[in-house]
Amino acid sequence: MLSLYPLTVLAISLGAFGTKISTDSSVASGRTFDYVVAGAGLSGIVVGTKLSAQGYSVLLIEAGKDLQNNSAIYNAELRGTLNDNPATDCNWHYVASDQNGTALPMKIDSGKCIGGSSSINGMVWYRPTSTELDALESLGNPGWNSTTMFPYMKAIEHNHPPSAAQRADGAGLVRSHHGFHGLVNVSFPVPMRIPAAQAIYKAAVLLVFGIPDSPDLSARKNSVSASTSWTIWWDPVAQVTRRASAAYSLLYPESQQQDTLTVLAEHTVSKVIFNKDMKATGLEFGSVIDGVLHTVNAKYEVLLAAGSLATPPILERSGVGSKSVLKSFGIKQLVDLPGVGLNLQDQPGTGLSALVQPANASSPLIIDNRNLFAPVISLLNIDELFGNDSTKFSVQLQNNIKVRAKAAVAIGAEVNIKGATELFTAVTNLITKDKMPITELVSESYPAVMTSVFWPLVPLSRGHIHINSSDPFAAPRVTPRFLSDDFDLKVAVQIAKQARALYQTAPFAPIIAELVVDAVAVNATDAEWAAWYTSTAFGASHWLGSSAMRPRKSGGVVSPTLEVYGTSGLRVVDASVMPFQVTSHSMSLVYAISQKAADIILASR
Ligand SMILES: Cc1cc2nc3c(=O)[nH]c(=O)nc-3n(C[C@H](O)[C@H](O)[C@H](O)COP(=O)(O)OP(=O)(O)OC[C@H]3O[C@@H](n4cnc5c(N)ncnc54)[C@H](O)[C@@H]3O)c2cc1C
Ligand SMILES: *[C@@H]1O[C@H](CO)[C@@H](O)[C@H](O)[C@H]1NC(C)=O
Ligand SMILES: *[C@@H]1O[C@H](CO)[C@@H](O)[C@H](O)[C@H]1NC(C)=O
Ligand SMILES: *[C@@H]1O[C@H](CO)[C@@H](O)[C@H](O)[C@H]1NC(C)=O
Ligand SMILES: *[C@@H]1O[C@H](CO)[C@@H](O)[C@H](O)[C@H]1NC(C)=O
Ligand SMILES: *[C@@H]1O[C@H](CO)[C@@H](O)[C@H](O)[C@H]1NC(C)=O
Ligand SMILES: *[C@@H]1O[C@H](CO)[C@@H](O)[C@H](O)[C@H]1NC(C)=O
Ligand SMILES: *[C@@H]1O[C@H](CO)[C@@H](O)[C@H](O)[C@H]1NC(C)=O
Ligand SMILES: *[C@@H]1O[C@H](CO)[C@@H](O)[C@H](O)[C@H]1NC(C)=O
Repeated sequence: MLSLYPLTVLAISLGAFGTKISTDSSVASGRTFDYVVAGAGLSGIVVGTKLSAQGYSVLLIEAGKDLQNNSAIYNAELRGTLNDNPATDCNWHYVASDQNGTALPMKIDSGKCIGGSSSINGMVWYRPTSTELDALESLGNPGWNSTTMFPYMKAIEHNHPPSAAQRADGAGLVRSHHGFHGLVNVSFPVPMRIPAAQAIYKAAVLLVFGIPDSPDLSARKNSVSASTSWTIWWDPVAQVTRRASAAYSLLYPESQQQDTLTVLAEHTVSKVIFNKDMKATGLEFGSVIDGVLHTVNAKYEVLLAAGSLATPPILERSGVGSKSVLKSFGIKQLVDLPGVGLNLQDQPGTGLSALVQPANASSPLIIDNRNLFAPVISLLNIDELFGNDSTKFSVQLQNNIKVRAKAAVAIGAEVNIKGATELFTAVTNLITKDKMPITELVSESYPAVMTSVFWPLVPLSRGHIHINSSDPFAAPRVTPRFLSDDFDLKVAVQIAKQARALYQTAPFAPIIAELVVDAVAVNATDAEWAAWYTSTAFGASHWLGSSAMRPRKSGGVVSPTLEVYGTSGLRVVDASVMPFQVTSHSMSLVYAISQKAADIILASR
């Protein structure tokens, strides 16, 4: 006989409970939640799930769709089909503008569906160094250092150590730099990709840059070269390499269901609502389809997790920003916070290819026609990149800090000379004294060619992002100002030339048919290289800095507790709070920032 008890258990585990994901505005409109979050990307999901797990009611509002069952999102191998199909598109494709507001040819990739950029990203996983995290603290952010941040990176990671076969094909692991009990799966591809090509690249990198192969990108003091692990896992049942996005790891699994959590998809946050004491009391949001605006109330706090390219525009539409920007769109200034949208940065990348001998191009050990990428990553410091010129450039960097600070303020990319000087001093010391890497080279192969993609890793160029209209659904004006700093351009030209040199080394000689130096002649001048680089550069997609965590007098937007200056009950919890680039890809950093954010929020209750 069936007893009532198991039926009840069944009803609870399968029934109407669990996380509610809806596109119906009535789940939020006019309602009150303990916490209301703008954006269900990487940071929004981390913060939202951590708060709701403590029993608080949480609403995440996400502009994009729920693409949970879309193979282009979950199957890491299909990522190349993501962008051109409107049905599966999870990408804002932001327009990039030059300083005068003229659109540049390059579009900016940024995730636009549940999971945010972690739903479309390159899945490369490794950590920054302790030195650069400690520099974050020294910029006036007590408690934000390697000792406090590394544990969050370990806590989120579920590393699958490489097998003997994967190790034989180039994988490695230094266990002390990884976590094994988290929710985000991290592994090497099964089987390892293009092992013969990886071995050739590693030998060439040693010859050209003097950097030997290391077991693990995460285990380093500064420069390094190694095969990379990814936020993926091999599903032996479906025979698919699955993406471990924030959504697949923390939101969708059966084990993570929480009846205190609601996600409203396909609704855009327009602004934060404040009471007369400048306490954030809720969010205004609407669907682009009918344009009707609704409000939702936050009992405790409003959290901004829309990312580096969307959080500053939300602040500006709310009346938080610089007077000149707000005035031009008829928005009343509520808080004078000129740092909003300034200090924007990403790494400008491009690539070079060499044609492979037809016989070798059909070897899957060299070229496998698959769409996962980034097997070998090399991070090079100023000495390795510039050789004997390194000392000269180091001296120039140290001497030009003030000049750089003044130029960034004059162009509207930094708030004041004092703050900009502090920032550029910290970054310059990381480059010249601590010998942090200044360029990244990603070594790959694609149909018929060996390709390397590279970028200045810690750019000194600064851009800005502002609203371009008071219309809540209008795109922002993003001004990257890539390579506007002279040193960034030197780094770019040098790494491009050295990438070409890789393919001219002995290890490559037997498999290279022709050196294809896309558009640049073999005897090209530095000016020609620079023109080519600038015209082909695209963002590496590690945008940050536009709501910087810094003292207010230095141009900061949020305090060390991530509270927006001049307000209460309002925090930014996403990538935009990081004031300078780190030398890893940004996921590990943002997972740490957002987990720490949740702990700060919980501790303040
Ligand atoms: C193409 C690409 C490749 C990348 N490759 C790598 C990689 O290989 N390794 C790595 O470590 N990192 C990589 N990154 C970077 C990494 O994914 C991001 O740093 C990280 O996801 C940032 O987290 P976030 O929460 O700040 O923003 P996101 O994850 O982008 O989340 C922001 C969310 O807010 C939503 N949103 C925006 N505006 C609004 C609004 N007004 N209302 C409601 N919702 C809104 C967005 O749709 C999005 O879902 C890549 C990023 C991209 C785009
Ligand atoms: C995805 O598939 C699951 C299982 O079939 C289903 O419950 C869910 O509603 C689907 N989600 C979407 C957004 O289609
Ligand atoms: C921007 O406009 C100014 C003044 O018209 C002009 O001198 C400058 O070359 C323009 N810059 C770009 C990047 O087009
Ligand atoms: C990091 O911050 C914590 C918390 O404030 C502090 O106890 C610790 O000493 C700091 N560690 C380093 C390496 O500065
Ligand atoms: C992580 O990988 C394991 C297989 O190793 C799988 O069973 C599990 O479901 C994955 N976790 C998530 C959250 O996808
Ligand atoms: C490249 O192809 C040639 C000719 O088939 C072969 O001898 C050589 O071993 C191949 N090289 C590699 C690295 O596979
Ligand atoms: C760098 O300096 C050393 C020592 O003076 C010299 O032997 C070497 O050739 C120089 N290298 C380059 C690339 O100029
Ligand atoms: C900004 O607005 C101007 C004027 O309406 C328009 O010409 C321009 O294309 C807009 N820029 C972007 C990036 O949308
Ligand atoms: C570059 O080399 C080509 C042929 O190798 C030659 O025709 C051309 O004049 C050279 N250009 C320069 C700027 O030296």
